Amino acid sequence: MSSRRPSMTLLFWFLTLSQLVNSAKKPNILLILADDLGYNDLDWRDSRLHTPFLRSLAFHKNSIQLNNSYVNQLCTPTRSALMTGYYPFRVGTQSGVFLHMEPTGVPVVFPFVSDNLRALGYKTYLIGKWHLGYCNKQFLPTERGFDYFYGYYGPQTGYFNHSAAQMHRESGKLAQGLDLFEEKEAGESKPDFTKGGIYSTDLFSGKAVETLEKHDKNDPFFMFLSFQSVHPPLQVPKSYEVHCSAFKPNTLRRIYCGMLAAMDVAIARVVKALKQRGLYDNTIIIFSSDNGGGVEFGASNAPLRGEKDTLWEGGTRTNTFFHSPQFIKKFAVRNEMFHVVDYHATLLGIAGMDINAYGDGINQWPYISTGIPKLRRFQFIYNIDEHGSAIRDGEYKLIFGNADKKSTENTGKFRLYRISTDPTESKDIAKDNVAIVARMKNKLLSLANFSRKNVRAPLSMYGDPGKFNGTYSSYWCTI
Ligand SMILES: *[C@@H]1O[C@H](CO)[C@@H](O)[C@H](O)[C@H]1NC(C)=O
Ligand SMILES: *[C@@H]1O[C@H](CO)[C@@H](O)[C@H](O)[C@H]1NC(C)=O
Ligand SMILES: *[C@@H]1O[C@H](CO)[C@@H](O)[C@H](O)[C@H]1NC(C)=O
Ligand SMILES: *[C@@H]1O[C@H](CO)[C@@H](O)[C@H](O)[C@H]1NC(C)=O
Repeated sequence: MSSRRPSMTLLFWFLTLSQLVNSAKKPNILLILADDLGYNDLDWRDSRLHTPFLRSLAFHKNSIQLNNSYVNQLCTPTRSALMTGYYPFRVGTQSGVFLHMEPTGVPVVFPFVSDNLRALGYKTYLIGKWHLGYCNKQFLPTERGFDYFYGYYGPQTGYFNHSAAQMHRESGKLAQGLDLFEEKEAGESKPDFTKGGIYSTDLFSGKAVETLEKHDKNDPFFMFLSFQSVHPPLQVPKSYEVHCSAFKPNTLRRIYCGMLAAMDVAIARVVKALKQRGLYDNTIIIFSSDNGGGVEFGASNAPLRGEKDTLWEGGTRTNTFFHSPQFIKKFAVRNEMFHVVDYHATLLGIAGMDINAYGDGINQWPYISTGIPKLRRFQFIYNIDEHGSAIRDGEYKLIFGNADKKSTENTGKFRLYRISTDPTESKDIAKDNVAIVARMKNKLLSLANFSRKNVRAPLSMYGDPGKFNGTYSSYWCTI
């Protein structure tokens, strides 16, 4: 497979953005992303759960729900697509997730949406999970368009101790260290040793509120509030579990329910702060998840098939809504397809750019806000990698190879599902639709020819927290 560099077009956009924007007061953007939230895991889907605030926002007269909103199968691919506007197979982030001590990052040739929003005059804040590379300065959030970062770099940590373990296979060593950092200046990463015992959901909502309080109201802001919740490990202060008596004590789903209830409270707190500062009316709030839930950790994607780290709908179809008192005047459910690569162009559209497309994504803001599909997404790519791939063409989904977790080799098999009538992927109709399979197979194989070699790398003990006073610090790789 060859690799293509999109550099010239990207640089062009990067430098000329500010010239293409209208002068109206730009709306603030609060993008809230849950981690590993299952499709069935909001209280309007499973009424035993407790998410009253999210429900009030999702069904508000000033809200639009996206009923066919898709993401990638895992954290790093989805976040990479969200930030770059390109499919992970075009960026090199299609396979698995970045681990602690992994000497890699999203290639810097790709500007992030934070870079482009900042070029449009936005103040840009990231609170919570990053997971797009940290081994070197150039990969840090404040080198990628964010003015401020508070959170963690890796795939997971303890919710209270903010510490993570990582096995280094070659040496047999188990590394252990703190992953909680603040960046106030570009590329200046400082560990925060002072938050042991504070639950991350409360910690991050607190930091978000603090950041909003300091924000200069003359500037528009983009805040990416990237919760740790409800990713494993399953941990929650008991006080949040009082809402979860429908589940038996000490069961996984009861703890999961508590974690979700905590996130609901955290989001309510941040929205209240927006109102108190007089920022709410001019803010567009977006809520979604990075991928489906892990069922072995209390999540549910019912009635969809599959889960996190699979190409099935349960790994890739999410609950997504947009809320805006200023631009959305009537509640509605939109059924056109939306994909995570669309956020980049869509957020630039919200920021006032007259833009139809960016990278692999399209600006869906005109459709979301008016219901009139100016541009329609007929096709998208669930993912393409050596292990398994899937693409969508209208009603149809073609899966090539393995759709499940990386336990087996690529089967080389093609499966076809008609999602419009079979959203749970119960019936493989490939045999009866040879022409459709052939057409989609050609499309998939020719797209695969544009793959960029994946940027994953073997772990390195240069990143061992033992060398950095017990933290997963940056500045140790040379790429
Ligand atoms: C959501 O989309 C599904 C198809 O994916 C459709 O069956 C359902 O009716 C839609 N819901 C609404 C409220 O439009
Ligand atoms: C931090 O918390 C996690 C989750 O409870 C636990 O697995 C890990 O051992 C703890 N780390 C340390 C260093 O105590
Ligand atoms: C993919 O690239 C190879 C090598 O350049 C070429 O032979 C093949 O025809 C391409 N496949 C498709 C489907 O475009
Ligand atoms: C080293 O780590 C300890 C906590 O383990 C912390 O209290 C101390 O401030 C750190 N030292 C430096 C120089 O960062």
